[in-house]
Amino acid sequence: MKQKKTSASQGFSSITSQDNFSKGKQINPHAAPIYTSSTYVYESAEKAQQVFEGKAEAYIYSRWSHPNAELVEEKLAKLETFGLEQKAKALVFSSGMSALSALFQSLLRPGDAILAQGNIYGTSVDYFNHYAAAFQIEVIYADFANLREVEETLKQKKNIRLLYTETPSNPTLNCYNVNVLAGLAHRYQAKLAVDNTFASPYLQQPFRFGADFVIHSATKYLNGHGTALSGFVVSRDRKFMEQEVWKIRKLTGTICSPFDAWLLNNGMKTLALRMEKHCSNTFSVAKFLQKHTAVSKVNYLGLKEHPDHTLAKKQMKNFGGVLSFDLKGGYKAGLKLMKKVRFCKLTASLGTIDTLIQHPASMSHHFVPKAQREKFGITDGLIRLSVGIEEVQDVMADLEQAIK
Ligand SMILES: Cc1ncc(COP(=O)(O)O)c(C=O)c1O
Repeated sequence: MKQKKTSASQGFSSITSQDNFSKGKQINPHAAPIYTSSTYVYESAEKAQQVFEGKAEAYIYSRWSHPNAELVEEKLAKLETFGLEQKAKALVFSSGMSALSALFQSLLRPGDAILAQGNIYGTSVDYFNHYAAAFQIEVIYADFANLREVEETLKQKKNIRLLYTETPSNPTLNCYNVNVLAGLAHRYQAKLAVDNTFASPYLQQPFRFGADFVIHSATKYLNGHGTALSGFVVSRDRKFMEQEVWKIRKLTGTICSPFDAWLLNNGMKTLALRMEKHCSNTFSVAKFLQKHTAVSKVNYLGLKEHPDHTLAKKQMKNFGGVLSFDLKGGYKAGLKLMKKVRFCKLTASLGTIDTLIQHPASMSHHFVPKAQREKFGITDGLIRLSVGIEEVQDVMADLEQAIK
């Protein structure tokens, strides 16, 4: 999908490339330094009083906020609303999971229910299930491709406050219809949160389709180099972000550290360039794997054969840097491939400039019962590949020698 530039806004890569600190706070470096101070000094008692009463703006204490956090927050809010006549507020956290937990804690109250897609990131499922009983929050899972099932559940369970989707999803790369899900959520007085980690705002903007909250593990494409953990909650409801989500972050101390926010900012500068290369490399690898005799199926939204290809074309600018594929030889073939890869790095993360490979059945999803795994297409022979921005021939040559 084409993204239009509004006359008032700068280009996507102009926003990521420059370090423009908020005016009025009297710092104007060209490239962001790391502000490692835990606290900030006031020039007078009167100024301190005004700041604490909320009548003047200044940094107070780094658990509340700091310049490195605000710099990436302002960039991400602009990127998630790029080309839209909308404004958003982003808050940066120490990880994707702390962002998710801040949203959960600020939005849900005892007696509420959350309706989540069945095939989201495993630790998100673990989080929901772990806190459900203690917070008296009901967790319901559904197949978000089955919109009738989603609507029936919303009709029956009047206490659903939040729909939680991840698109593209992990590791089978399905695409879910944000526009329809947002419409359903709003019809039944619920909110829609979208985990936008796999796409990044360069490829997909959930606010464009009516989502209420966007979650990121910024550890992945936004940082892009695998150098730090971080996460975001973003919403167009500024008041809710400033009063509720910010308060949880301040009370629980889960703000991203200045150093990690600085690393994140450096990574974000090249987001557009990296995403373009991730997408073109991944498409080439998907085509290569499709022809491979040892491979029975390739899951990549960019392939016409993918059942969600048409939806992804409408919802995304391009199809992303992650694919998965099924080896005919099952679990044994998966393990053999993991033993033989040399160039592709054997690790469970994704979204870095180098290619990362993993075997969900023996690694990220080994604790999920086989029947449950297979229900969501996570078969014994499934391999997940996060394709980097290297020379794509090197990735394919490594896969070729390792699959043999
Ligand atoms: C889609 C998705 N969401 C959230 C997370 C959690 O992020 P973090 O590891 O930064 O806490 C991950 C981590 O892999 C992820 O893949």
